[in-house]
Amino acid sequence: MSDITAIVPGTFDPITNGHLDIIKRAKKLFDRVIVAVAVNAGKTPLFTFDERVELTKRVIEDDEELRGVVVEGVKGLLVDFAKKENAKVIVRGLRAVSDFEYELQMAFMNRRLNENVEMIYLMPYIKYSFLSSSIIKDVFINGGDISKFVPRQVVEAMNKKIGRGEV
Ligand code: COA
Repeated sequence: MSDITAIVPGTFDPITNGHLDIIKRAKKLFDRVIVAVAVNAGKTPLFTFDERVELTKRVIEDDEELRGVVVEGVKGLLVDFAKKENAKVIVRGLRAVSDFEYELQMAFMNRRLNENVEMIYLMPYIKYSFLSSSIIKDVFINGGDISKFVPRQVVEAMNKKIGRGEV
């Protein structure tokens, strides 16, 4: 699969080790990988759009294994961004069967919007299969240790954003 640009999109509110696992897998398969910090209209994120872009950039830039991966903030349709970047592939993670229906719905809609982009699904390590951004926020807000599940920059950003134990 040479000369193929792949996009790994998400809300990344915040980015977790599970997301990083998927991005690393994508990097092994494709020449160019763009992490797209996008807007899910159904979500009210904790971090603003600009904060999510900046935090995701910092995390990716500090990770040796992700050298060359680019982070972009995307407002508007993902498939339009894919067209602009000449990307043929959108990569998503599938953690469990419960992800499947939502992903299938997005895949069909993306295909209706742009026939030229393929969705590809990668499975994370099983140790990340229970992770989600919401569960990270919940554990943190309730005083739990999230340092095993997210990069150090995310722990710092969470501390700055909401501080400890502010339920
Ligand atoms: N590791 C950890 N968590 C993972 C994960 C993994 N490998 N894969 C998924 N998740 C979690 C996320 O943490 C997130 O958890 P949360 O719901 O608790 O926040 C959830 O699964 C899925 O979120 P995420 O991967 O961040 O993406 P999303 O589903 O919010 O993103 C977009 C959807 C942004 C890709 C989609 O809304 C989009 O394309 N928006 C742009 C506009 C557009 O084109 N809309 C039409 C789409 S058909």
